[in-house]
Amino acid sequence: MAAAIAESVRPNAAATDIAEESADIRKTGIDPNYWYPLARSGDVKPKNTCGVSFAGKPIVLARTEKNDVFALEDRCAHRQVPLHLGVVRGERLLCSYHCWAYNKSGACVNVPYLDSNESLPNGVRSYPCREAYGLIFVFPGQPEKAESTPLPDIPTYDNSAYKTRYLDRRIDCHYSFMHENLMDMNHQFLHRSLMGSIRARALDIREGDGWVEVDYTFHRASGKQPLGEKFMLGKRKKTPDFKSDDNADKDIMTIRTGYPYQTLQFWTAGSEEPALDLWNAYVPIDAEQRKNQTYGLMMIRKPGIPGAIHALWPFIAWFTDGIFGQDKDIVEAEQRAFDAQGEDQNNEVFPIIQKLRKLLIESGTPLPDQKGTDPNWNLNEYPMAHSR
Ligand code: FES
Ligand SMILES: [Fe+2]
Repeated sequence: MAAAIAESVRPNAAATDIAEESADIRKTGIDPNYWYPLARSGDVKPKNTCGVSFAGKPIVLARTEKNDVFALEDRCAHRQVPLHLGVVRGERLLCSYHCWAYNKSGACVNVPYLDSNESLPNGVRSYPCREAYGLIFVFPGQPEKAESTPLPDIPTYDNSAYKTRYLDRRIDCHYSFMHENLMDMNHQFLHRSLMGSIRARALDIREGDGWVEVDYTFHRASGKQPLGEKFMLGKRKKTPDFKSDDNADKDIMTIRTGYPYQTLQFWTAGSEEPALDLWNAYVPIDAEQRKNQTYGLMMIRKPGIPGAIHALWPFIAWFTDGIFGQDKDIVEAEQRAFDAQGEDQNNEVFPIIQKLRKLLIESGTPLPDQKGTDPNWNLNEYPMAHSR
């Protein structure tokens, strides 16, 4: 865990502890000057294209015959039709309509019906693009900043002691709701049908330049540890011989927003390696940033018995999908409240979430004003998309 500015955690501290926020968090655009996953590697098949978007900007991803992936603005410079409808030949992308050809830099390199002595038209914008961790990352901001901006560091991904489960879901809410949802473990009540009765206790919060993080421990108020959770996190036990820190007898969860990504690590009592190491990115899809594609890498430590992780995998998948589904429903309900009210009317009392909100506002950029739809909005008028 990172060295940090520690402070005591007072869950009932007044909101006045944090300087008044003048900007609206839900009208804050994400900073485009980072690497964002826009697809999984398998979504862009060899010699094929894939249409994606970042904050309302349409982008085409293409994989060449040499297996290089590149990213261009998804519109032909000629008649503006989407380039993802085109075809890949060799290292070029051909528009499906009049066959203008583009290279990886977006330059138009051939118009089949022009004589060779005629000059070629301008091409389209290209985006820096890299493939890592089974994801395709694009840098949608200022291209000159891409080289000096590192890809996210996910060391557990290559650790053979872990098996990775991918999350790739569209969630109809602003990315800030996702950060708040994961970081505020006081919402275990939402998961009572899957998790039983669990209480989270914040132990410590820390912050630094561009990041905030919190440690929690948990205790079960009643009932048994559910099967899916047991398979994923292991059976909880105390190890009295482990003395390296004060929390040796507790399960510890650390959740960190290191802008713009978020991570969660879970250590069972006494263990030195996390049982669970989760990395998430919430990528805005539309210009108003009220929808996001969530990409997650959930790395789960394999049990001691060789191959056992594969037998347990369906239970782990069922459990994590169930939890994620409940979170999706509730954050989308939060977004509908914002849409109707037209402004953030949240009443936040929890210190780590106050710090998180400040970080997200200060790191982002204001979006155009968004009007509410219904001042007399009522939650009951907006039934949830799914019931669980
Ligand atoms: S619209 Fe693309 S080549 Fe004409
Ligand atoms: Fe949750």
